[in-house]
Amino acid sequence: MTIEFKAAVFRTPNEPMTIETVSIPSTPPPGDVLVRMKASGLCHSDLHVIVGEWEVPTPMILGHEGAGVVEAIGEGVTGVAVGDHVVLTWTPPCRRCRYCVSGRPVLCDEVARHSANHLSFDGRTRITTLDGEEVYSFAGAGTFGEYAMVPESGAIPVRADAPFAQASLVGCAVTTGVGAAINTANVRPDETVVVFGCGGVGLNAIQGARLVGARRIIAVDLSDDRLAQGRHFGATDVINSAKENLAERIGELTDGRGVEVAIEAIGLPVTIEAAYASLARGGRAIVAGQVPDGMTITIDPFVMSDSELKLIGSNYGSSRPAIDFPQLVDHYMNDRIDLDALVTRVIKLDEINDAYDEMKQGIGIRSVISY
Ligand SMILES: NC(=O)c1ccc[n+]([C@@H]2O[C@H](COP(=O)([O-])OP(=O)(O)OC[C@H]3O[C@@H](n4cnc5c(N)ncnc54)[C@H](O)[C@@H]3O)[C@@H](O)[C@H]2O)c1
Ligand SMILES: [Zn+2]
Ligand SMILES: [Zn+2]
Repeated sequence: MTIEFKAAVFRTPNEPMTIETVSIPSTPPPGDVLVRMKASGLCHSDLHVIVGEWEVPTPMILGHEGAGVVEAIGEGVTGVAVGDHVVLTWTPPCRRCRYCVSGRPVLCDEVARHSANHLSFDGRTRITTLDGEEVYSFAGAGTFGEYAMVPESGAIPVRADAPFAQASLVGCAVTTGVGAAINTANVRPDETVVVFGCGGVGLNAIQGARLVGARRIIAVDLSDDRLAQGRHFGATDVINSAKENLAERIGELTDGRGVEVAIEAIGLPVTIEAAYASLARGGRAIVAGQVPDGMTITIDPFVMSDSELKLIGSNYGSSRPAIDFPQLVDHYMNDRIDLDALVTRVIKLDEINDAYDEMKQGIGIRSVISY
């Protein structure tokens, strides 16, 4: 038995995704969970694929920032039940490998082997077109469709009174940004933090730094509207790097020392280098933004050793989704972080191409599909 449902299918870069009817088994295989999607955010990572900056197998259902309700569970699933409200993680941990056991599930061996190749844990796809063609699901999630099938560990239960649109953003932007500040950087209250980029990820890095009480939070962007959002989410100072001299302004704001923590949330070599260059001696630069395939950066290794600078990658905010998702939803429900202002447009699935055109133009923060 199968379920037929609508999904946005990506086939060719720089061409619109097509809304197609596709098919999924109504009974999940052992260990899997079938989720009826309720909301999915539009993340910039999918845009990397849409514009051809990241190559993926096709056809593919993109989207990896989603929330929904468990519709059915496969044999052996004990951690979630039918009817649970869940947020999907794009790094479903195997819970057995060296990384999982040591508390770093985003680096899981099975994720590297399968989810990173847009497959389920058995190395296969779950969805087909009505002609029987296999359809990949981005990062094994594929939230731009009415249903998704994920391993049990990929569906994290959250409280049922949280709205789906806001909860969906916990599946990527919120966890990535807040986590970059509090998990990867481990920001402390006496530190000054600069965040490059005030998009979905950067604004969350700002509110993560605020959550742990950073003394000064500097937001950098090219857009005054984005910088106003940066202030709303907790920036104490803003720099428009299109109009102001970045290095000079950082110097002014830090008595010439530089910052203890710089978080890059854009995904460009030039801003990663600028983040690194903004550090005080002993500082750490966190790379959360992801660059187009093949790009590299240049740094001075003498300065790195002499000043004990750290350049640290951050995948999914170095999170432990099973712990962090319910925590972040609680922080939102308790008004400790803001997810409402991130949702600047609610769309139907068939408006997805238009919403990605808006992201290209820098309009809005997050568009969220409501199913
Ligand atoms: N590490 C991870 O696990 C992870 C997870 C999700 C997203 N990402 C990546 O994070 C990056 C940001 O994603 P997003 O969804 O927040 O994107 P976004 O498009 O919502 O935001 C990007 C922001 O950067 C600003 N910007 C662009 N160029 C700039 C420049 N030269 N100088 C200053 N500001 C500039 C834009 O004005 C915008 O405010 C992407 O590369 C995405 O792929 C990484
Ligand atoms: Zn994302
Ligand atoms: Zn693992």
